[in-house]
Amino acid sequence: MAKQDHVKITFYNGENIPLELHKVRIVQKLNLVPIERRLEALEEGGFNTFGLKTTDVFLDMLTDSGVNAMSDNQLAAMMQADDAYAGSQSFMRMHKAVQEVLDKKYLLPAHQGRAAENIIACAYIKRGSLVPMNYHFTTVLAHITQYGGRIVELLYDEAYKIASDHPFKGNMNIEKLEEVVRKEGASNIPFIRMEASTNLIGGQPFSVQNLRDVRAIADKYGIRIVLDASLLGENAYLVLKREEEFADSSMEEVIKIITGLADIVYFSARKLSSSRGGGICTNDEKIYRELEPLIPLFEGFLTYGGMSVREIEAIAVGLYETLDESMICQSPQFIEYLVNSAMANGVPMVTPAGVLGAHVNAMEICQHLPQTQYPAGSFAAAFYLISGVRGMERGSLSNQRDEYGNETYADMELLRLAVPRRVFTLSQIKYVVDRLAWLYDNRELIGGLKFVYEPPVLRFFMGRLEPVSDWPQKLMAKFKEDFGDSL
Ligand SMILES: Cc1ncc(COP(=O)(O)O)c(C=O)c1O
Repeated sequence: MAKQDHVKITFYNGENIPLELHKVRIVQKLNLVPIERRLEALEEGGFNTFGLKTTDVFLDMLTDSGVNAMSDNQLAAMMQADDAYAGSQSFMRMHKAVQEVLDKKYLLPAHQGRAAENIIACAYIKRGSLVPMNYHFTTVLAHITQYGGRIVELLYDEAYKIASDHPFKGNMNIEKLEEVVRKEGASNIPFIRMEASTNLIGGQPFSVQNLRDVRAIADKYGIRIVLDASLLGENAYLVLKREEEFADSSMEEVIKIITGLADIVYFSARKLSSSRGGGICTNDEKIYRELEPLIPLFEGFLTYGGMSVREIEAIAVGLYETLDESMICQSPQFIEYLVNSAMANGVPMVTPAGVLGAHVNAMEICQHLPQTQYPAGSFAAAFYLISGVRGMERGSLSNQRDEYGNETYADMELLRLAVPRRVFTLSQIKYVVDRLAWLYDNRELIGGLKFVYEPPVLRFFMGRLEPVSDWPQKLMAKFKEDFGDSL
């Protein structure tokens, strides 16, 4: 394999900090509103960080989805977009990028990742179907269950350990996979789903060797593999860093090996390619023909799939940029810095540092709160209140109730602080660490939340909650006592 020039910069003074390999050419002013206004904003938004408006948010760490910084080349490409319902040159450019970067011949466009999940679920999930996966993502679970299917999550026990040094916590448990296939019967398993950089357990990657092992089982029993490639760039980057066999490989080589092991690859372009949109690709003409009719039905014609042509141009360029290690490494390096600095202040974090964001262990911090009061949701609200930083609850609030309407409590109660690519500076990350340390030291002041409006599907998006006591006022009073007139 070709030797790759990996990005490594050492400081003379021995300091270990990430260095930005880009320059800032467009800036957006931020608002850090006073804590009194932040409390009002929480009340208006139903103590759900999705309910906040960006005018009240200082650092928006809700997600990396659709908010990664675009490159100058992406913006330039958007200007030459070819508007056409059918046969657009923009789509041809995206198709070529998919062929060259992901090594897949056929492309079906979709307006975002969950739309791709809907198409795949609609085509292959029947009532009672079972989909084994390393771990679910909220939208894929909703689509599979919507069509009457079930899922089974097959991670190794190590993945559920918050503090771990396992390099590949996203690995599929191969022994359990074979057991499930034997028990269930391959005919009831339309596909095995592997998620690159498993989002909900802290952005944790799988190894190439693990995917090869999954492929061997899939081949043995004649089952397809579907790869969720939304965070493929970061998974490939961590394979370069952590899997010895690939230490001298390039991003391009690793990405092609991974996609080559899957029958269907789908992605949210809001993540992969730092733009907005999505797609499904395959080398199998039969699969392509099975999915093709669903695109005009749900998304739009085959050469735009619900996306604007400008975004399609940005995806094409963004896919090529995914091969640039210096572009992909920035977010994981900032996350690692945030995780290590927070832990140095005693804050429990998911380790090893993963991708897309740093994950705070709210279950440990809010031990005094029962899961019925949503510790991670409460911590997310408290952290916004004292910092103006908006993160996302990734715990029981993000779970859906079971078929009998009972709560299904999450394995982990996490606050995810997303670090979109090339958006924040190091001093902003230091501010996040500082406020996390303060909240950790005052954790006993954080109280619980309860639903006042709970939608039946994907409740964490639109749900409204309220505090179970006047804890937000008490937390605010302590903040003012400690910080005086500081924002
Ligand atoms: C792993 C993964 N899959 C699928 C999706 C859904 O993609 P979208 O938000 O574009 O619908 C996401 C979104 O965050 C994701 O992280």
